[in-house]
Parts: sequence; C-alpha cells; structure tokens
Amino acid sequence: MSPNTVQIRNCAFEAEGLAVARTRVELDRAMARLREAGGRVALVPTMGALHEGHLALISKAQEIAERTVVSIYVNPQQFAAHEDLDTYPREELSDAKALKVAGIDLVWAPSNETMYGADFATWVLPEGAAKGLESDFRPHFFQGVATVVLKLFNQVSPDVAVFGEKDYQQLCVIRQLVRDLDLITEIAGVPTVREPDGLALSSRNNYLSTAERVIAPRFNGVLCEVAQALAEGHESEAMSKKAKKELLAAGFEKIDYIEARDAETLAPFDIDSGRPGRVLAAVWLGGTRLIDNVAI
Ligand code: PAF
Repeated sequence: MSPNTVQIRNCAFEAEGLAVARTRVELDRAMARLREAGGRVALVPTMGALHEGHLALISKAQEIAERTVVSIYVNPQQFAAHEDLDTYPREELSDAKALKVAGIDLVWAPSNETMYGADFATWVLPEGAAKGLESDFRPHFFQGVATVVLKLFNQVSPDVAVFGEKDYQQLCVIRQLVRDLDLITEIAGVPTVREPDGLALSSRNNYLSTAERVIAPRFNGVLCEVAQALAEGHESEAMSKKAKKELLAAGFEKIDYIEARDAETLAPFDIDSGRPGRVLAAVWLGGTRLIDNVAI
C-alpha cells in the first residue's frame, strides 16, 4: 500500500462528507451539536468492515431514534495475542461509502491512544451470561467487549444502542451489563442477516477460500436441524453429539461447542420450563472460526 493510499484511507469519512470524530474533544463537540438538534440518539458499535448485517443494525437505529452514531473501532482488548487482530479487515474506504449511503449522523472513529491511555488499568469483568460457551475458548473476550462497550456508552451517552443477534452471547452479556451497572442506555437486538444459503454474514467470512465457502452454509443447516429436534423433545446432549459428527463429516475441522441454552439467561436449556431456547455454536473451517445461533 502506498503512503497515498494510507492517507486517503485515514480521511475516507471526511472525503465522503460524513461528520466524523476521532478524538474525545471532537466527539464531545459533535455530540453537543446532535443533542442540540434534539431527538433520541442511537449508537451502533462496530469494528468496521461493514456488511449488510451492520446496515440492518443501522436501519434499526434509524427506525427507533432520530440520530444515529456509528462507532468504528477494532478493539485490541477483545483479541488474545494469538488471534486475528493484525489481519482483521480494516476497510475505511468502503465503510465510508456505505455509511454515506445509509445517511448516518456521526462516525466515532477513535484511535487506540484515545481509547486506552498508557496508564489504562480498569476493567469490567462480566460473569453470569459471560460464563462458558465463548469464554471457554476465548477467556479474554467478554472482559474486552464489556469494557469497551461501557466506555463507548460513557463517551456517546446514547439513548439506545443496537447489537446483532449473530453474536448472541455478546448481546446477553451487554444486556446483563446494562442491568447490573444501572446503565440508562436501552439495548435493541437485531436478527442475524444471512446469505441466501443460510450462512450468517460476518466480516470473518472474507477469510474463507472458495472451497470453504461452499461448505460453510452447512453450519447453519445443522444448527436448524438441532433446534428442530430439540423443539420436538429430543435430548440435547445426543443432538449436539450428532451435529458435531455431521459437521466434521461435512469438512469442518474442529467444533468448539454446540450447546442448547435458555435464550435469556444462557443457563442449560430445559424444554419443560416452557422458556425460549437457543442453540449456540462455534466451529472452525480451515483457519476461520465461525459462530452462529438459532432459536429453538
Ligand atoms: O460485535 C462487535 O463488533 C464488537 O464486539 C463490539 C460490540 C463493537 C465491541 O468491540
């Protein structure tokens, strides 16, 4: 990449004529202007590399609030040292174009230095909904997410914040964060946007090879079969074992977990409780880790 490309990328939002804040002072000024204009403010927190799934979050934000702020920040604190922080897609040029078309009011694009001062030393350590599932494989993850989301809420003070059901456990953890710490931001969840073949949209789908992309939709297909079997009263452990076998046979390398949980508390699913359930799973296809979930 030439120095010119970097330069253009670093001011892509400005080049599209979008209002953008990159420092706390700029954010405070921009938020004061938005607040003065009146109406509810919605925040859509993202890590960029925007796709139709993010655009669905933005549409929801625009439906339920008069002003929409989109944050774009690849949060290093939610990646472990061996994970894909360095290769995670950063696409400011195409993000800027998508946000321009979406007609949002402000982009909040802080630097690492702005988010985490050199002496940063305070963390949110969620338990409850954060226990198990993702945490068994990414123990650092929800601490990083809860900390950055609380910071974003304090920075922007949104009336409502919008998150996707694609990261279902994350959504439960954020709802719990809001309840437990008496935050005043409402949380809105948005159903997962999928490709026509069922694959959940994700920035990490970009990592899949052509051959892997052909296999990938089987992930959602198998989860739907498990959810259907559980709804019919089949036993959850047996169903998850069968699903693991099917996925391995389809070409997935490794299954981190496939589990049925209570849709709100994420406690183990009990069909007799009459409460809604959710099948949640994480699998590896080549070097790519995919997550997905479906309602029971
Ligand atoms: O879901 C994501 O993109 C991230 O985890 C979030 C919520 C923006 C926090 O960095």
